[in-house]
Amino acid sequence: MVIVYVIIKTMSYNLKTPFSNKIISIPDKDKKDTIIAAIESSCDEMAFAIVKNGREVLSNVVASQINTHKKYGGVVPEVAAREHLNSIAMVIEEGFNQSGLKGTDITAFASTIGPGLVGSLIVGVNAAKTLSIVYDKPFIGVNHLKAHVCANYIDTDLKPPFIALLISGGHTQILKVDDYNNQTILGGTIDDAIGEVYDKVARLMDIEYPGGPNLDKIAAFGNKERFQFTKARVNEFDFSFSGTKTALLHLIQKLKQEYGENYPKNDVAASFQENVTSILFEKTINAAKKYNISQIVLAGGVAANSEIRKKFFELKNYKVFAPKMKYCTDNAAMVASCAYFLNDNMNNLDIEVFSRI
Ligand code: KG4
Ligand code: ZN
Repeated sequence: MVIVYVIIKTMSYNLKTPFSNKIISIPDKDKKDTIIAAIESSCDEMAFAIVKNGREVLSNVVASQINTHKKYGGVVPEVAAREHLNSIAMVIEEGFNQSGLKGTDITAFASTIGPGLVGSLIVGVNAAKTLSIVYDKPFIGVNHLKAHVCANYIDTDLKPPFIALLISGGHTQILKVDDYNNQTILGGTIDDAIGEVYDKVARLMDIEYPGGPNLDKIAAFGNKERFQFTKARVNEFDFSFSGTKTALLHLIQKLKQEYGENYPKNDVAASFQENVTSILFEKTINAAKKYNISQIVLAGGVAANSEIRKKFFELKNYKVFAPKMKYCTDNAAMVASCAYFLNDNMNNLDIEVFSRI
């Protein structure tokens, strides 16, 4: 483990992933169990997990940096990358200990390759590539967004086709997933991602970082019908939240003039939450109706939102899936699951990280 750690550190400081042209094929999935060890380090979580056959989690470790970034009110990329370097060896070791497995038991090593913060991604990718070289196993590069959707395969029997609502800090998309390796983006946000909107609105309301989950908590105590916001007119499966954000800014300024700092924050939070979650809900249902698909899948950090889950789980005519809370926000179990079910970016040590799609 010490050797692996030294290699990762050296490569990460060089900002390079220097292995080329080494392609190893993954064993036949039908013949024996496939055990994938994966790393997720695209943002402010350093995570490692080991997953059997894409659905059974053997270990799952997440080192969160919330306390570090709280000081700054948001994620500072350079700080995140440095923290990843400090925690990676510990997280990998803990993951192996939890599972009782050794490096030689692993079928393939995987890591998120993007989208995300490049400095942070490089730490995880270099570690996974190093492990794959040391144990002579394939390396699989995984797309973070696809991994969020794959979180729904964990501990379930979900099979495509389904409509997925992917809602995270960086993305808001409605996807039609026809097969494990075949998906179409039906629409997405034309400005801010929904998680980003939650975080920005939380900041306007002086709610502590991480804004999204904290805003969700206080919304539970508010009157969601007290304030109304208009809904943006965009294409049928697209989203725009910038108008809501501006309306919120004006509303908060007005309420502060009237009530001072004791303005009805819970009601503002609940009304905002009702507005955005009903838009996400309606558009997703419309997509399921249009394409006559009876399964709906929620994915990404905002899939942990209480109101979103409530709206979808009340549905009678659809089978609804949402990851357990710990698999909604960034984690490595979803990356391992994705490496198992999806076959793009397979076995290629030459693949590099990317920041945006
Ligand atoms: O998927 P994720 O962990 O990271 C990205 O890939 O972006 O999502 C993080 C986002 C943040 O914006 C966070 O505020 C939001 O998910 N989030 C929530 C909740 N839990 C996390 N937003 C609203 N309600 C929640 N309960
Ligand atoms: Zn994510």
